[in-house]
Amino acid sequence: MASERSYIMIKPDGVQRNLVGEIISRFERKGFKLVGLKMVTVDKGLAERHYADLSSKPFYGSLVEYICSGPVVAMVWEGKGVIATGRKMIGATNPANSEPGTIRGDFAIEVGRNIIHGSDSPESATKEISLWFPDGVNEWMPAARPWIYE
Ligand code: TYD
Repeated sequence: MASERSYIMIKPDGVQRNLVGEIISRFERKGFKLVGLKMVTVDKGLAERHYADLSSKPFYGSLVEYICSGPVVAMVWEGKGVIATGRKMIGATNPANSEPGTIRGDFAIEVGRNIIHGSDSPESATKEISLWFPDGVNEWMPAARPWIYE
């Protein structure tokens, strides 16, 4: 079965606002499998590498500062279509445009405090997972699998 992995991160505002359980619960209830999880206080170098593609943007400096402003919850989720579906569950980058029912649509107001990150392509997922989980993730087979996939 074609499965894939996505890097999902609860940003400092999501942690400070006690949304960790809510967000993990949404991915769990969907049927995705948690294979990597840790709380990280991010240093500037890691934040800059994670957002390297945005280094020319005017908001880059404040974005890096925000990501370093408190602990984040770094996760890897696995499942069929988890990258695209994860992005749908997260909602549009600017919460003003995120549909109700999405994580940003339900819990955030401003683009600079949008509580969660999710990989936007298979290439970024691979890059981000090796950046945040250089020692790899947990390989395990959930008992529920035949109840989620045909
Ligand atoms: P981006 O990768 O474009 O969005 P996404 O997180 O949905 O993949 O941007 C990364 C983060 O940069 C975004 O989550 C919030 C921040 N950002 C701003 O602060 N201002 C902006 O105008 C944009 C486009 C993004």
